[in-house]
Amino acid sequence: GAPVQVDISKLEMGQRVVQEWRGQPVWVIRRSEETVSALDALNDQLKDPQSEQDQQPAYASSLWRSIKKEYLILIGICTHLGCSPLYEEEPTVELKEGGFFCPCHGSKFDLAGRVYQGVPAPTNMVVPPHSYLSESVVIVG
Ligand code: FES
Repeated sequence: GAPVQVDISKLEMGQRVVQEWRGQPVWVIRRSEETVSALDALNDQLKDPQSEQDQQPAYASSLWRSIKKEYLILIGICTHLGCSPLYEEEPTVELKEGGFFCPCHGSKFDLAGRVYQGVPAPTNMVVPPHSYLSESVVIVG
């Protein structure tokens, strides 16, 4: 499939835009500095905090898993059996730091798409190849 462009110029803090790429939903979420700096504290609750299983391109192998900290770009599919996780921008009972909750079998991911321990999903959510055409346009693919 051809790369797709995502306009992020209107994305407010915490908001998500969804774009289809290769028949899959791609999410772009704008994260606050607070959100990104809170990721580190979650490491000991996660299965693969450093994303060593390569669920992202090498240029997104940082803790925040994206080129720009502010924008998280993920394939919006649970790595267990492929359901669509819910985006929990605000803290919930299951996700005190916010993140993604899969209603099918209860898998939980943080706001970098990293999977928590004790849930069925085996790996972190996938970060697709991405780059920036400009400040306001991301290219996925
Ligand atoms: Fe998401 Fe099973 S498909 S937890």
